[in-house]
Amino acid sequence: MNITVIGTGYVGLVTGTCFSEMGNNVYCIDIDEEKIKSLKNGIMPIYEQHLESMVIKNHNKGNLIFTTELKKGLSKSDICFIAVGTPMASDGCADLSVVFQVAKNIGELMSHDLIIVTKSTVPVGTGDKIDKIIQKELDKRGVNYNFQMVSNPEFLKEGTAVEDSMRPDRVIIGSEDEKTINMMKELYAPYVKNHDRFIIMDIRSAEMSKYASNAMLATRISFMNEIANICEKVGADVNKVRLGVGSDKRIGYSFLYAGCGYGGSCFPKDVSALIKTGEIAGYSPKILNEVESVNNNQKVVLVNKIREKFGENLSNLSFSIWGLSFKPGTDDMREAPSVVIINELIKSGANIKAYDPKAREVAENIFKNNENIEFCNSKYDVLNDSNGLIIVTEWNEFKSPDFNEIHDRLKHKIIFDGRNQFDKELLDTLGFEYYQIGC
Ligand code: UDX
Repeated sequence: MNITVIGTGYVGLVTGTCFSEMGNNVYCIDIDEEKIKSLKNGIMPIYEQHLESMVIKNHNKGNLIFTTELKKGLSKSDICFIAVGTPMASDGCADLSVVFQVAKNIGELMSHDLIIVTKSTVPVGTGDKIDKIIQKELDKRGVNYNFQMVSNPEFLKEGTAVEDSMRPDRVIIGSEDEKTINMMKELYAPYVKNHDRFIIMDIRSAEMSKYASNAMLATRISFMNEIANICEKVGADVNKVRLGVGSDKRIGYSFLYAGCGYGGSCFPKDVSALIKTGEIAGYSPKILNEVESVNNNQKVVLVNKIREKFGENLSNLSFSIWGLSFKPGTDDMREAPSVVIINELIKSGANIKAYDPKAREVAENIFKNNENIEFCNSKYDVLNDSNGLIIVTEWNEFKSPDFNEIHDRLKHKIIFDGRNQFDKELLDTLGFEYYQIGC
Protein backbone atom coordinates (compact mmCIF):
# COMPACT_ATOMS: atom_id res chain seq x y z
CA MET A 1 0.00 0.00 0.00
CA ASN A 2 0.99 3.64 -0.31
CA ILE A 3 1.01 5.43 3.00
CA THR A 4 1.75 8.88 4.37
CA VAL A 5 2.67 9.25 8.03
CA ILE A 6 2.66 12.82 9.31
CA GLY A 7 5.04 13.37 12.23
CA THR A 8 8.38 11.61 12.73
CA GLY A 9 8.30 11.46 16.53
CA TYR A 10 8.30 8.22 18.47
CA VAL A 11 4.98 6.99 17.16
CA GLY A 12 5.22 8.31 13.59
CA LEU A 13 8.77 7.21 12.89
CA VAL A 14 8.34 3.73 14.35
CA THR A 15 4.94 3.19 12.72
CA GLY A 16 6.10 4.43 9.31
CA THR A 17 9.26 2.34 9.46
CA CYS A 18 7.36 -0.81 10.44
CA PHE A 19 4.89 -0.27 7.58
CA SER A 20 7.81 0.04 5.16
CA GLU A 21 9.39 -3.12 6.60
CA MET A 22 6.42 -5.13 5.28
CA GLY A 23 6.90 -3.76 1.79
CA ASN A 24 4.53 -0.77 1.85
CA ASN A 25 5.66 2.51 0.30
CA VAL A 26 5.78 5.04 3.11
CA TYR A 27 6.21 8.80 3.06
CA CYS A 28 7.28 10.06 6.49
CA ILE A 29 6.53 13.76 6.70
CA ASP A 30 7.82 16.33 9.17
CA ILE A 31 8.01 20.12 9.11
CA ASP A 32 11.40 19.96 10.85
CA GLU A 33 13.86 20.14 7.95
CA GLU A 34 16.87 19.29 10.10
CA LYS A 35 15.20 16.15 11.36
CA ILE A 36 14.28 15.04 7.85
CA LYS A 37 17.81 15.72 6.66
CA SER A 38 19.25 13.68 9.53
CA LEU A 39 16.87 10.80 8.94
CA LYS A 40 17.87 10.73 5.27
CA ASN A 41 21.46 10.39 6.50
CA GLY A 42 20.54 7.55 8.83
CA ILE A 43 20.75 9.65 12.01
CA MET A 44 17.92 8.83 14.43
CA PRO A 45 16.27 11.58 16.51
CA ILE A 46 15.68 9.07 19.34
CA TYR A 47 17.34 5.97 20.69
CA GLU A 48 15.17 2.93 20.10
CA GLN A 49 16.30 -0.67 19.74
CA HIS A 50 16.29 -2.04 16.12
CA LEU A 51 15.03 1.26 14.70
CA GLU A 52 18.19 2.59 13.08
CA SER A 53 18.98 -0.51 11.02
CA MET A 54 15.36 -0.84 9.90
CA VAL A 55 15.18 2.82 8.85
CA ILE A 56 18.45 2.70 6.93
CA LYS A 57 17.56 -0.58 5.19
CA ASN A 58 14.14 0.56 3.99
CA HIS A 59 15.31 4.06 3.13
CA ASN A 60 18.07 2.59 0.96
CA LYS A 61 15.56 0.27 -0.70
CA GLY A 62 13.50 3.35 -1.57
CA ASN A 63 10.23 2.45 0.12
CA LEU A 64 10.73 4.66 3.19
CA ILE A 65 10.88 8.26 2.07
CA PHE A 66 11.57 11.21 4.36
CA THR A 67 10.31 14.56 3.19
CA THR A 68 8.87 17.87 4.36
CA GLU A 69 6.51 17.92 1.38
CA LEU A 70 3.11 16.77 2.56
CA LYS A 71 1.60 17.34 -0.88
CA LYS A 72 3.99 14.84 -2.45
CA GLY A 73 3.16 12.16 0.13
CA LEU A 74 -0.57 12.72 -0.03
CA SER A 75 -0.69 12.66 -3.81
CA LYS A 76 0.73 9.13 -3.79
CA SER A 77 -1.10 7.67 -0.78
CA ASP A 78 -4.23 5.65 -0.05
CA ILE A 79 -3.99 6.13 3.69
CA CYS A 80 -2.70 9.09 5.70
CA PHE A 81 -1.75 8.65 9.35
CA ILE A 82 -1.67 11.62 11.72
CA ALA A 83 1.07 10.89 14.26
CA VAL A 84 2.03 14.33 15.55
CA GLY A 85 2.48 15.20 19.22
CA THR A 86 -0.39 15.97 21.58
CA PRO A 87 1.53 17.37 24.57
CA MET A 88 -0.04 18.49 27.82
CA ALA A 89 -1.23 22.11 27.67
CA SER A 90 -0.88 24.37 30.72
CA ASP A 91 -4.48 23.58 31.74
CA GLY A 92 -3.83 19.82 31.72
CA CYS A 93 -5.77 19.21 28.48
CA ALA A 94 -4.16 17.65 25.42
CA ASP A 95 -2.81 20.41 23.18
CA LEU A 96 -4.33 19.62 19.80
CA SER A 97 -3.06 22.64 17.91
CA VAL A 98 -0.63 20.64 15.77
CA VAL A 99 -3.24 17.95 15.05
CA PHE A 100 -5.69 20.59 13.85
CA GLN A 101 -3.04 22.37 11.78
CA VAL A 102 -2.21 19.06 10.10
CA ALA A 103 -5.92 18.43 9.44
CA LYS A 104 -6.15 21.83 7.75
CA ASN A 105 -3.08 21.04 5.63
CA ILE A 106 -4.58 17.72 4.58
CA GLY A 107 -7.79 19.49 3.51
CA GLU A 108 -5.76 22.05 1.56
CA LEU A 109 -3.59 19.51 -0.23
CA MET A 110 -5.43 16.22 -0.73
CA SER A 111 -6.04 15.43 -4.35
CA HIS A 112 -8.08 12.22 -4.30
CA ASP A 113 -10.14 10.02 -1.96
CA LEU A 114 -8.27 9.18 1.22
CA ILE A 115 -8.46 7.30 4.49
CA ILE A 116 -7.29 9.56 7.32
CA VAL A 117 -6.19 7.83 10.49
CA THR A 118 -5.43 9.34 13.89
CA LYS A 119 -2.53 7.46 15.48
CA SER A 120 -1.78 10.27 17.93
CA THR A 121 -3.52 9.92 21.29
CA VAL A 122 -6.42 12.34 20.96
CA PRO A 123 -9.35 13.03 23.29
CA VAL A 124 -12.75 11.62 22.47
CA GLY A 125 -14.44 13.68 19.78
CA THR A 126 -11.22 14.78 18.05
CA GLY A 127 -11.91 12.56 15.04
CA ASP A 128 -15.16 14.45 14.45
CA LYS A 129 -13.36 17.79 14.75
CA ILE A 130 -10.68 16.74 12.25
CA ASP A 131 -13.42 15.60 9.90
CA LYS A 132 -15.03 19.06 10.02
CA ILE A 133 -11.73 20.91 9.52
CA ILE A 134 -10.86 18.86 6.45
CA GLN A 135 -14.36 19.18 4.99
CA LYS A 136 -14.23 22.96 5.48
CA GLU A 137 -10.98 23.16 3.49
CA LEU A 138 -12.39 20.97 0.72
CA ASP A 139 -15.51 23.18 0.56
CA LYS A 140 -13.31 26.27 0.31
CA ARG A 141 -11.48 24.69 -2.60
CA GLY A 142 -14.78 23.64 -4.16
CA VAL A 143 -13.65 20.03 -4.48
CA ASN A 144 -15.46 16.93 -3.34
CA TYR A 145 -13.25 14.03 -2.30
CA ASN A 146 -14.50 11.15 -0.23
CA PHE A 147 -12.43 10.83 2.93
CA GLN A 148 -12.99 8.47 5.84
CA MET A 149 -11.81 9.15 9.37
CA VAL A 150 -10.40 6.27 11.43
CA SER A 151 -9.13 6.14 14.99
CA ASN A 152 -6.30 3.62 15.26
CA PRO A 153 -4.58 4.28 18.60
CA GLU A 154 -0.98 3.25 19.08
CA PHE A 155 0.01 1.11 22.06
CA LEU A 156 3.76 0.87 21.52
CA LYS A 157 6.07 1.15 24.52
CA GLU A 158 9.34 3.05 24.41
CA GLY A 159 12.30 0.68 24.54
CA THR A 160 10.36 -2.08 22.73
CA ALA A 161 8.60 0.17 20.22
CA VAL A 162 9.67 -1.72 17.10
CA GLU A 163 8.77 -5.13 18.54
CA ASP A 164 5.43 -3.80 19.80
CA SER A 165 4.63 -2.41 16.35
CA MET A 166 5.69 -5.54 14.51
CA ARG A 167 3.69 -7.79 16.87
CA PRO A 168 0.89 -5.75 18.44
CA ASP A 169 -1.31 -7.23 21.20
CA ARG A 170 -4.30 -5.83 19.37
CA VAL A 171 -5.16 -3.48 16.53
CA ILE A 172 -8.06 -1.23 17.34
CA ILE A 173 -9.84 0.17 14.31
CA GLY A 174 -12.36 2.87 15.07
CA SER A 175 -14.51 3.17 11.98
CA GLU A 176 -18.00 2.27 10.85
CA ASP A 177 -17.26 2.17 7.15
CA GLU A 178 -16.88 -1.39 5.92
CA LYS A 179 -14.60 -0.64 2.98
CA THR A 180 -12.31 1.41 5.23
CA ILE A 181 -12.22 -1.30 7.89
CA ASN A 182 -11.23 -3.85 5.25
CA MET A 183 -8.41 -1.61 3.96
CA MET A 184 -7.10 -1.19 7.52
CA LYS A 185 -7.31 -4.94 8.11
CA GLU A 186 -5.41 -5.56 4.91
CA LEU A 187 -2.68 -3.16 5.99
CA TYR A 188 -2.29 -4.75 9.42
CA ALA A 189 -2.82 -8.39 8.41
CA PRO A 190 0.92 -9.23 8.23
CA TYR A 191 1.44 -7.93 11.76
CA VAL A 192 -1.27 -10.05 13.35
CA LYS A 193 -0.80 -13.18 11.24
CA ASN A 194 -2.52 -16.26 12.63
CA HIS A 195 -4.13 -14.26 15.41
CA ASP A 196 -7.45 -12.54 15.40
CA ARG A 197 -6.31 -9.36 17.02
CA PHE A 198 -8.54 -6.83 15.29
CA ILE A 199 -11.01 -5.01 17.47
CA ILE A 200 -13.46 -2.95 15.49
CA MET A 201 -15.50 -0.19 17.11
CA ASP A 202 -16.78 3.34 16.63
CA ILE A 203 -14.28 6.22 16.53
CA ARG A 204 -15.15 7.63 19.96
CA SER A 205 -14.78 4.28 21.71
CA ALA A 206 -11.44 3.73 19.96
CA GLU A 207 -10.23 7.14 21.12
CA MET A 208 -11.36 6.36 24.66
CA SER A 209 -9.76 2.88 24.62
CA LYS A 210 -6.30 4.39 24.40
CA TYR A 211 -6.86 6.72 27.37
CA ALA A 212 -8.55 4.01 29.42
CA SER A 213 -5.64 1.60 28.78
CA ASN A 214 -2.97 4.05 29.84
CA ALA A 215 -5.03 5.23 32.80
CA MET A 216 -5.57 1.63 33.93
CA LEU A 217 -1.83 0.90 33.79
CA ALA A 218 -1.03 4.14 35.63
CA THR A 219 -3.67 3.26 38.22
CA ARG A 220 -2.11 -0.15 38.86
CA ILE A 221 1.26 1.51 39.46
CA SER A 222 -0.11 4.19 41.79
CA PHE A 223 -2.21 1.59 43.58
CA MET A 224 0.86 -0.55 44.19
CA ASN A 225 2.89 2.48 45.26
CA GLU A 226 0.19 3.27 47.78
CA ILE A 227 0.29 -0.33 49.04
CA ALA A 228 4.10 0.03 49.26
CA ASN A 229 3.78 3.12 51.41
CA ILE A 230 1.42 1.30 53.75
CA CYS A 231 3.73 -1.76 53.78
CA GLU A 232 6.56 0.42 55.07
CA LYS A 233 4.43 1.63 57.97
CA VAL A 234 3.27 -1.84 59.03
CA GLY A 235 6.39 -3.93 58.43
CA ALA A 236 5.26 -5.75 55.28
CA ASP A 237 7.34 -6.23 52.12
CA VAL A 238 5.74 -5.01 48.89
CA ASN A 239 7.97 -7.31 46.81
CA LYS A 240 6.32 -10.29 48.47
CA VAL A 241 2.88 -8.69 48.44
CA ARG A 242 3.21 -8.23 44.65
CA LEU A 243 3.70 -11.96 44.24
CA GLY A 244 0.79 -12.70 46.51
CA VAL A 245 -1.47 -10.34 44.61
CA GLY A 246 -0.25 -10.95 41.04
CA SER A 247 -0.66 -14.72 41.29
CA ASP A 248 -4.41 -14.19 41.09
CA LYS A 249 -5.07 -14.81 37.38
CA ARG A 250 -7.65 -12.06 37.36
CA ILE A 251 -4.99 -9.57 38.45
CA GLY A 252 -1.72 -10.80 36.87
CA TYR A 253 1.83 -9.70 37.66
CA SER A 254 2.51 -6.92 35.19
CA PHE A 255 2.54 -3.24 36.11
CA LEU A 256 2.51 -4.03 39.82
CA TYR A 257 6.07 -2.92 40.52
CA ALA A 258 6.27 -0.31 43.22
CA GLY A 259 8.92 2.30 42.57
CA CYS A 260 9.77 5.96 42.51
CA GLY A 261 6.84 6.82 40.26
CA TYR A 262 5.88 6.51 36.62
CA GLY A 263 7.10 9.00 34.04
CA GLY A 264 7.34 9.25 30.29
CA SER A 265 5.54 11.08 27.58
CA CYS A 266 2.28 9.17 27.93
CA PHE A 267 1.00 8.26 31.38
CA PRO A 268 1.27 11.72 32.99
CA LYS A 269 -0.19 13.55 30.00
CA ASP A 270 -2.89 10.99 29.23
CA VAL A 271 -4.13 10.68 32.82
CA SER A 272 -4.31 14.48 32.99
CA ALA A 273 -6.09 14.78 29.64
CA LEU A 274 -8.61 12.09 30.63
CA ILE A 275 -9.39 13.95 33.86
CA LYS A 276 -9.99 17.08 31.78
CA THR A 277 -12.13 15.20 29.26
CA GLY A 278 -14.32 14.00 32.14
CA GLU A 279 -14.53 17.45 33.70
CA ILE A 280 -15.39 19.18 30.44
CA ALA A 281 -18.12 16.60 29.86
CA GLY A 282 -19.54 17.22 33.37
CA TYR A 283 -18.02 14.32 35.31
CA SER A 284 -15.29 14.94 37.83
CA PRO A 285 -13.03 11.85 38.00
CA LYS A 286 -12.05 10.79 41.51
CA ILE A 287 -9.74 7.80 41.11
CA LEU A 288 -7.76 9.43 38.30
CA ASN A 289 -7.03 12.56 40.34
CA GLU A 290 -5.60 10.38 43.08
CA VAL A 291 -3.56 8.32 40.60
CA GLU A 292 -1.83 11.56 39.61
CA SER A 293 -1.36 12.81 43.13
CA VAL A 294 0.02 9.48 44.45
CA ASN A 295 2.49 9.51 41.56
CA ASN A 296 3.66 13.06 42.23
CA ASN A 297 4.31 12.15 45.89
CA GLN A 298 6.03 8.94 44.89
CA LYS A 299 8.69 10.81 42.96
CA VAL A 300 10.00 12.26 46.25
CA VAL A 301 9.76 9.11 48.40
CA LEU A 302 13.47 8.37 47.92
CA VAL A 303 14.38 11.97 48.71
CA ASN A 304 12.38 11.73 51.95
CA LYS A 305 14.31 8.60 52.90
CA ILE A 306 17.59 10.41 52.21
CA ARG A 307 16.49 13.39 54.31
CA GLU A 308 15.45 11.05 57.13
CA LYS A 309 18.93 9.56 57.07
CA PHE A 310 21.04 12.69 56.59
CA GLY A 311 18.77 15.53 57.74
CA GLU A 312 17.11 18.34 55.78
CA ASN A 313 20.38 20.07 55.00
CA LEU A 314 22.41 18.03 52.54
CA SER A 315 25.24 20.51 51.92
CA ASN A 316 28.69 18.95 51.72
CA LEU A 317 27.09 15.65 50.79
CA SER A 318 27.37 14.01 47.42
CA PHE A 319 25.11 11.32 45.94
CA SER A 320 25.50 8.98 42.98
CA ILE A 321 22.59 8.40 40.63
CA TRP A 322 22.21 5.27 38.51
CA GLY A 323 19.68 5.81 35.75
CA LEU A 324 18.18 9.03 34.42
CA SER A 325 15.73 8.02 31.69
CA PHE A 326 12.12 7.49 32.78
CA LYS A 327 12.57 3.76 32.23
CA PRO A 328 15.23 1.42 30.81
CA GLY A 329 15.78 1.05 27.07
CA THR A 330 15.26 4.68 26.15
CA ASP A 331 17.04 8.02 26.40
CA ASP A 332 13.70 9.74 27.02
CA MET A 333 13.65 11.88 30.16
CA ARG A 334 10.19 13.40 29.83
CA GLU A 335 8.53 13.46 33.28
CA ALA A 336 11.35 11.25 34.56
CA PRO A 337 11.43 10.77 38.36
CA SER A 338 15.22 11.35 38.18
CA VAL A 339 14.67 15.03 37.35
CA VAL A 340 12.49 15.59 40.44
CA ILE A 341 14.87 13.61 42.68
CA ILE A 342 17.98 15.43 41.45
CA ASN A 343 16.37 18.88 41.72
CA GLU A 344 15.17 18.15 45.26
CA LEU A 345 18.59 16.93 46.39
CA ILE A 346 20.35 19.91 44.84
CA LYS A 347 17.80 22.22 46.48
CA SER A 348 18.82 20.73 49.84
CA GLY A 349 22.47 21.48 49.08
CA ALA A 350 23.73 18.12 47.77
CA ASN A 351 26.07 17.49 44.85
CA ILE A 352 25.20 14.82 42.31
CA LYS A 353 27.21 12.49 40.09
CA ALA A 354 25.02 10.70 37.58
CA TYR A 355 25.31 7.88 35.08
CA ASP A 356 22.87 6.57 32.50
CA PRO A 357 23.72 4.18 29.64
CA LYS A 358 21.80 6.23 27.05
CA ALA A 359 20.33 9.45 28.44
CA ARG A 360 23.49 11.41 29.23
CA GLU A 361 23.18 13.85 26.35
CA VAL A 362 19.51 14.54 27.04
CA ALA A 363 20.25 14.96 30.75
CA GLU A 364 23.16 17.32 30.11
CA ASN A 365 20.79 19.50 28.19
CA ILE A 366 18.19 19.49 30.99
CA PHE A 367 20.75 20.34 33.68
CA LYS A 368 22.98 22.63 31.59
CA ASN A 369 24.64 25.41 33.61
CA ASN A 370 23.92 23.51 36.84
CA GLU A 371 27.22 23.25 38.68
CA ASN A 372 25.91 20.80 41.25
CA ILE A 373 25.66 17.88 38.87
CA GLU A 374 28.37 16.01 37.04
CA PHE A 375 27.86 13.24 34.47
CA CYS A 376 30.19 10.24 34.36
CA ASN A 377 30.96 7.57 31.77
CA SER A 378 30.52 4.51 33.92
CA LYS A 379 28.36 3.31 36.76
CA TYR A 380 31.38 2.91 39.02
CA ASP A 381 32.89 6.34 38.30
CA VAL A 382 29.93 8.08 39.92
CA LEU A 383 30.55 6.31 43.23
CA ASN A 384 33.87 7.80 44.32
CA ASP A 385 33.58 9.61 47.69
CA SER A 386 29.83 9.49 47.52
CA ASN A 387 27.57 9.46 50.56
CA GLY A 388 25.14 7.05 48.95
CA LEU A 389 24.04 5.41 45.72
CA ILE A 390 20.53 6.11 44.45
CA ILE A 391 19.06 3.74 41.86
CA VAL A 392 16.36 5.46 39.82
CA THR A 393 16.10 3.46 36.58
CA GLU A 394 16.43 -0.31 36.43
CA TRP A 395 18.76 -0.68 33.43
CA ASN A 396 20.00 -4.29 32.98
CA GLU A 397 23.60 -3.30 33.67
CA PHE A 398 22.61 -2.30 37.21
CA LYS A 399 21.08 -5.66 38.01
CA SER A 400 24.19 -7.69 38.89
CA PRO A 401 26.84 -5.10 39.69
CA ASP A 402 30.16 -5.78 41.41
CA PHE A 403 29.10 -5.09 44.98
CA ASN A 404 32.71 -5.14 46.22
CA GLU A 405 33.55 -2.34 43.82
CA ILE A 406 30.51 -0.36 44.98
CA HIS A 407 31.47 -0.97 48.59
CA ASP A 408 35.08 0.11 48.03
CA ARG A 409 34.19 3.32 46.24
CA LEU A 410 31.29 4.62 48.34
CA LYS A 411 32.18 6.72 51.36
CA HIS A 412 28.97 5.69 53.13
CA LYS A 413 27.94 2.15 52.23
CA ILE A 414 24.32 3.10 51.61
CA ILE A 415 22.05 2.26 48.69
CA PHE A 416 18.65 3.89 48.16
CA ASP A 417 16.93 1.72 45.59
CA GLY A 418 13.92 3.22 43.81
CA ARG A 419 13.31 0.02 41.82
CA ASN A 420 13.80 -2.71 44.45
CA GLN A 421 16.50 -4.49 42.46
CA PHE A 422 18.44 -6.39 45.08
CA ASP A 423 18.05 -9.01 47.76
CA LYS A 424 18.04 -7.22 51.11
CA GLU A 425 19.58 -10.16 52.97
CA LEU A 426 22.48 -10.30 50.51
CA LEU A 427 23.14 -6.60 50.81
CA ASP A 428 23.01 -6.79 54.60
CA THR A 429 25.63 -9.54 54.51
CA LEU A 430 27.82 -7.46 52.20
CA GLY A 431 27.73 -4.63 54.69
CA PHE A 432 25.38 -2.21 52.96
CA GLU A 433 22.63 -0.16 54.49
CA TYR A 434 19.92 -0.87 51.91
CA TYR A 435 16.71 1.11 51.54
CA GLN A 436 13.97 0.00 49.15
CA ILE A 437 10.47 1.20 48.44
CA GLY A 438 7.70 -0.54 50.35
CA CYS A 439 9.72 -2.68 52.73
C1 UDX B 1 3.03 3.55 27.85
C2 UDX B 1 2.08 2.39 27.54
O1 UDX B 1 2.57 1.21 28.17
C3 UDX B 1 1.95 2.21 26.04
O2 UDX B 1 1.01 1.19 25.76
C4 UDX B 1 1.48 3.53 25.42
O3 UDX B 1 1.40 3.43 24.02
C5 UDX B 1 2.42 4.66 25.80
O4 UDX B 1 2.55 4.73 27.22
P1 UDX B 1 5.67 3.94 27.87
O5 UDX B 1 5.39 5.36 28.23
O6 UDX B 1 6.68 3.66 26.81
O7 UDX B 1 4.32 3.22 27.37
O8 UDX B 1 6.15 3.22 29.21
P2 UDX B 1 5.72 1.99 30.14
O9 UDX B 1 6.59 0.82 29.88
O10 UDX B 1 4.28 1.75 30.10
O11 UDX B 1 6.14 2.57 31.57
C6 UDX B 1 5.62 3.81 32.04
C7 UDX B 1 6.17 4.17 33.39
O12 UDX B 1 5.64 3.30 34.40
C8 UDX B 1 7.70 4.06 33.54
O13 UDX B 1 8.16 5.21 34.22
C9 UDX B 1 7.92 2.81 34.36
O14 UDX B 1 9.11 2.85 35.13
C10 UDX B 1 6.68 2.85 35.27
N1 UDX B 1 6.29 1.54 35.80
C11 UDX B 1 5.89 0.54 34.95
C12 UDX B 1 6.28 1.33 37.18
O15 UDX B 1 6.62 2.22 37.97
N2 UDX B 1 5.85 0.12 37.65
C13 UDX B 1 5.45 -0.89 36.83
O16 UDX B 1 5.07 -1.97 37.35
C14 UDX B 1 5.47 -0.68 35.43
